Amino acid sequence: MDRPVSIAAPKGKLGILTPGMGAVSTTFMAGVELVRKGEAAPVGSLTQMGTIRLGKRTEGRSPKIKDFVRLARLGDLVFGGWDVFPDNAYEAATKAGVLDSKDIDKVAKFLKNIKPMKAAFDQNYVKKLHGTNVKKGKTKFDLAEQIREDIRNFKKKNKLNRVVMVWCGSTEVFLKPDPVHADLQSFEKAMQTNHPAIAPSMLYAYAAISEEVPFANGAPNLTVDIPALEEFAKERGVPVVGKDFKTGQTLLKTILAPGFKARMLGMNGWFSTNILGNRDGEVLDDPGSFKTKEESKLGVLEYILQPKMYPQLYGKIHHKVRINYYPPRGDNKEGWDNIDIFGWLGYPMQIKVDFLCRDSILAAPIVLDLALFLDLAKRAGMRGIQEWLSFYFKSPMCARELYPEHDLFIQSMKLKNTLRWMMGEDLITHLGSEYYD
Ligand SMILES: NC(=O)c1ccc[n+]([C@@H]2O[C@H](COP(=O)([O-])OP(=O)(O)OC[C@H]3O[C@@H](n4cnc5c(N)ncnc54)[C@H](O)[C@@H]3O)[C@@H](O)[C@H]2O)c1
Repeated sequence: MDRPVSIAAPKGKLGILTPGMGAVSTTFMAGVELVRKGEAAPVGSLTQMGTIRLGKRTEGRSPKIKDFVRLARLGDLVFGGWDVFPDNAYEAATKAGVLDSKDIDKVAKFLKNIKPMKAAFDQNYVKKLHGTNVKKGKTKFDLAEQIREDIRNFKKKNKLNRVVMVWCGSTEVFLKPDPVHADLQSFEKAMQTNHPAIAPSMLYAYAAISEEVPFANGAPNLTVDIPALEEFAKERGVPVVGKDFKTGQTLLKTILAPGFKARMLGMNGWFSTNILGNRDGEVLDDPGSFKTKEESKLGVLEYILQPKMYPQLYGKIHHKVRINYYPPRGDNKEGWDNIDIFGWLGYPMQIKVDFLCRDSILAAPIVLDLALFLDLAKRAGMRGIQEWLSFYFKSPMCARELYPEHDLFIQSMKLKNTLRWMMGEDLITHLGSEYYD
């Protein structure tokens, strides 16, 4: 990929569309509005709070990221979405129970104005949902055409300059890559014949790419992670990225595991269990949707610890992940980890982590950052998979011949070096030998 020659300025308004207006999406929308009103700080958002060092450590140049690369301003963001339930964002945020009513009420008028468009939905892909706000169409292709029309209308109605889409919909059942995903022609034919390997989330991704709208996938579904849509994204000059927002337990895993490995500490097992009681938890109570999530969560350790390269240390790890739907806990998930490690001469040790986290509070700033960075990538002419945004995902998409990079610190370095590269600044290698000449 060549370095961007020029990056178009973020003129005018940027629309952010989310298929799925549940806990994550409404926490994100309400949060941005609270920040815009000066009522809260955008904690957890790299684009809003992060800095980036430029040049040598002695130069003292560390601007804020949002001042270094030209990102859309929060004041220029406009929100919209689709959901299978007709609740507006105020009702959905209230039901999700993530934010306190005192916070929701401060932005009630704003949220009430965000009403979901009818969803492209099929219960075969999310068994636990029974919604009524659903599109009708003879074929999946017709539904994708309707989504395209929604995007165009949203853009026109709100006088937007650009639009990005972030999938915040439920986790769909596990789908294996299928021959109809292999190329665009087969994919389009499969939409027309209602092939079961085409899930609703793929229709949104297809529609977005068709409208030259960058697309991010916050759930573990295949969605845009198939050759047909990758090829289509490249052809249309659209950046795409996924999958599955890295929050909670997996975030901690990708913070801790690289540390054990860096010190060559061995590991026998990692047992992770969760209790959560939100709608996402209910959807994941279905074995099909859980399987999609499980695959996404399990890959992480394998790639970080490289058991084939270090069989003595990581050759026999028992890695288990459990998710339990437990309504009293709502969105405030509890994630327990029991980690069995061993040290010098094989002596065993245990680590217990009990993370009382708030899922959507961790996910909301990711939605914001992805929307702003994808918009930047589009203005810079970057197309196809944006691996530099792996930082935000549990199952990062990458070129077919590569393995994904899961180590949070490598991901962070990659992201910041990509920004430096885009802006023609020196990359930072952390060698630093010049300070000792
Ligand atoms: N919260 C987190 O930390 C986190 C982390 C990683 C991934 N995720 C994923 O993000 C997604 C959203 O999470 P959430 O907590 O907001 O869930 P949620 O259940 O509160 O919201 C999802 C919404 O998507 C809607 N939906 C389902 N299928 C749809 C379709 N085809 N079109 C339009 N709307 C559809 C549902 O009706 C629901 O309102 C889930 O897939 C979840 O697994 C969340």
